[in-house]
Amino acid sequence: MSTTQYYVAQTLDGYIADSDGGLDWLLRFDGESTIDASEATDGAYDRFFAEVGALAMGSATYEFILAEAHERWPYEGMPSWVFSSRELPVPEGADVRFARGAVRPVHEHMSTAAGERNVWIVGGGDLAMQFADEDLLDELHLTVVPVVLGAGLPTFPRRLRRRLRLAGTRPFRNGMVELRYEVVAA
Ligand SMILES: NC(=O)c1ccc[n+]([C@@H]2O[C@H](COP(=O)([O-])OP(=O)(O)OC[C@H]3O[C@@H](n4cnc5c(N)ncnc54)[C@H](OP(=O)(O)O)[C@@H]3O)[C@@H](O)[C@H]2O)c1
Repeated sequence: MSTTQYYVAQTLDGYIADSDGGLDWLLRFDGESTIDASEATDGAYDRFFAEVGALAMGSATYEFILAEAHERWPYEGMPSWVFSSRELPVPEGADVRFARGAVRPVHEHMSTAAGERNVWIVGGGDLAMQFADEDLLDELHLTVVPVVLGAGLPTFPRRLRRRLRLAGTRPFRNGMVELRYEVVAA
């Protein structure tokens, strides 16, 4: 049965990006090179991604990834939905479908595409809340990075009206900690 997961890295004080959308606090966590998600999480990211069958993101995240990856799409072959009211480019080899408006009908298509695998809500926070508001979010996977920004784009820009049950924690060698929560049905 497919599970819908909001999987993000966030600062200790609950932000997924700087106020201007930057991710230097995460990508340059070791102070020098761009970190590798697999290495930074002792392989946990790879194990998570192996179970993903479809993903969704907002247009700001999409444009950030395109700029950061120099147009090389990191999710080749993965059915990917980008929410936007605008026309945006699609890089070579990307299976990108554009969506706008209500998330529920899109979620149906995503679940069908994912089959037995999971649906990954990449972010940002408001898009994740759109799925949560429709009771379509099953799990939160938060990789907490020991950085305090003091301001930024919040992981949760508004209240989540559901109880959360701790499903697991995992510390990584670099000081990051993964927190997993199930969203308890009403
Ligand atoms: N730390 C992490 O793990 C992590 C994860 C994800 C993202 N991020 C970062 O967070 C930043 C972006 O987050 P964000 O919250 O600003 O933006 P976002 O969710 O990526 O994009 C927001 C935009 O998506 C479009 N959109 C959202 N919902 C829509 C809907 N239902 N219908 C049509 N369009 C819709 C709208 O833009 P238009 O209609 O104008 O296109 C909206 O302004 C980026 O810097 C990204 O890299 C970090």
